[in-house]
Amino acid sequence: MPQKTPIAVLISGRGSNMTALMEACSRPDYPARISLVLSNRPDAIGLKTAHDAGLPTLCIDHKQYGKDRRSHEKAVDEAIRQSGAQLVCLAGYMRVLTPFLVQQWQGKMLNIHPSLLPAFPGLHTHEAALKAGVQRHGCTIHLVTDGVDEGPILAQASVPVLPDDTAERLAARVLEQEHQLYPRVLADYITKLNLA
Ligand code: GAR
Repeated sequence: MPQKTPIAVLISGRGSNMTALMEACSRPDYPARISLVLSNRPDAIGLKTAHDAGLPTLCIDHKQYGKDRRSHEKAVDEAIRQSGAQLVCLAGYMRVLTPFLVQQWQGKMLNIHPSLLPAFPGLHTHEAALKAGVQRHGCTIHLVTDGVDEGPILAQASVPVLPDDTAERLAARVLEQEHQLYPRVLADYITKLNLA
């Protein structure tokens, strides 16, 4: 069995994508293992989920750094490196990154976004999709670059927008896709980089 690639998962809240990655990583044939779950918010539910599952967790609260984004990111970067992670998966990490952290992990940091990028970057993507009247909506996994929700797209998954959709219903159907897509794309990317 080849060695599993250590990954850090960065979250800010619920952590359902983290859980999907956690479940995938628990399979013996999956090419990654989680070396750290890190949150910028102490109240992130996902931190408890990860802790209860026996994973190393850490909170580096951005509020303690005031406006000094760089120092916060330096601490985050150090913690990721100390864990031995070779890749970083942003999974609902709701911080805009500065070029510092982006450069540290160029080509090694993935993000999941709940829209078919380049459509609907930013927040409230499901509301925006309904308002725009699109027929299909979905999620994207991309590499992180300096622009917010930009960067080379690795994969997307889509669902039809139904006539009676609310933002909540649409979000739930997209989330199901997110949970399937992220583990699959991460495994493919590890294979592509020949890390495993
Ligand atoms: C997910 O829908 C993810 O795509 C989104 O936040 C949610 C986190 O949920 N990410 C972004 O909007 C990033 N721009 P989760 O904590 O349950 O995984």
